[in-house]
Amino acid sequence: MEERLQKVLAQAGVASRREAEQYITAGRVKVNGKVVKELGTKVGPNAFIMVDGNPIHRERKTYLLFYKPRGVVTTMKDPEGRKSVADFVKDIPQRVFPVGRLDYNTEGLLLLTNDGELTQAMTHPSHGVNKTYEVTVPGIVPQEKLDELRVGVKLEDGMTAPAIVNLTSYDYEKNLTHFTVTIHEGRNRQVRRMCDHIGFPVRYLRRVKMGILTLNGLRKGDCRELFDEEVEALRLDCGLESRTEKKKKPVDRKAVELADGKKAKKPDIKKAVNKEANIKKPVAGKAGTRKSSPKPAGNNKAEGKKSAVKNRNKTRQAMMRNETGGMG
Ligand code: URA
Repeated sequence: MEERLQKVLAQAGVASRREAEQYITAGRVKVNGKVVKELGTKVGPNAFIMVDGNPIHRERKTYLLFYKPRGVVTTMKDPEGRKSVADFVKDIPQRVFPVGRLDYNTEGLLLLTNDGELTQAMTHPSHGVNKTYEVTVPGIVPQEKLDELRVGVKLEDGMTAPAIVNLTSYDYEKNLTHFTVTIHEGRNRQVRRMCDHIGFPVRYLRRVKMGILTLNGLRKGDCRELFDEEVEALRLDCGLESRTEKKKKPVDRKAVELADGKKAKKPDIKKAVNKEANIKKPVAGKAGTRKSSPKPAGNNKAEGKKSAVKNRNKTRQAMMRNETGGMG
C-alpha cells in the first residue's frame, strides 16, 4: 500500500510527522535517488528512501497471533519481573505491541502488531471487533442471570452493550457453570466485572475468538504470523479500508491522446484500454508517481468506508446468527 512520505518517515522513527514535513520541504529527503519536496507524495512499500544521504530503516508490518498462558502480563516489560508477552516473541526483530490486553490470570488469544492504524481501529469503542470468551464460574447460574448479561449490566463505568451469551453446560458434580460471552467493547476486566455484577465471580477465563481469529492449531505459549487474508478480514471487520480490492481504473484520456499523438474526441473505451496497456508505466514507488493504490470498490473514500462498515456489520450479524443457535 502506498503511504504519504511524511507518515513513512514518522513510522520509521526518523522524526515526528511535522518535522518530517519540514525535512521534505527543505529537500533533505530522496526517494529512489531523487529529491522529493512535494508534501503529498505517496511512496510504495519498496521505495528506497534516504534522509540527509542516510537510508531509513522501514519496518515490515508484522501481525502475530499469540496464545497467552495464565500468569503472563500483557506488556512488553514488567517492572515486577513477572513473565511478560515479550518473553515469547524474543526472536521477532520487529517491535510489536499487544492489541488490547488480557488480565494476568486470563489466557487465550492475543494479537501483537506494529501496525498502529489497525491497533487503533480494533480497540476503538465504536467499532472494536467481537471478542468471545469461555467462562467458568462456581455455582449453577440461572438463565435469568445470563439474560442480564444479554441485556447489558450497569458497571461503575456505565452500561455494558448487549452481550451474546451461550450456556455451554452445567457441571452438577463440581457445581460449576460453563458459558461463552461475546462482546465488542474492550473495557478493563469487563467480563470479570460483568460476572461479579450478577453474583458469580469468574473462576476461569479464556479468550477464544477475536473477529475472524481463533486459537485453532495453537498451544499455550505458541505464536504464529497472520495470513494476509486474515489481516484483510480484520481491517474490514473494524471499519478500515480494504488493501487488496482494486479500484476500477478509469481511462486516462489525456494519456491516450498523448500515446496517439492526436486529440482523441470520443474514445472507444475498449480500444483506449488496450492502448493504455502500451503506455510506459510509471516506475513503482518513484517520487511523484502513484501506483494505483488498492481501495475498496466505490467512487470515493467515503463509499469505501461505507462498504467496510457494511462488511463488518455482515460479519457481526453472521456471528450473532451462529451463536444464538447454541444452548443459551
Ligand atoms: N475481560 C476480563 O475480565 N478480563 C480479560 O482479560 C479480558 C476480558
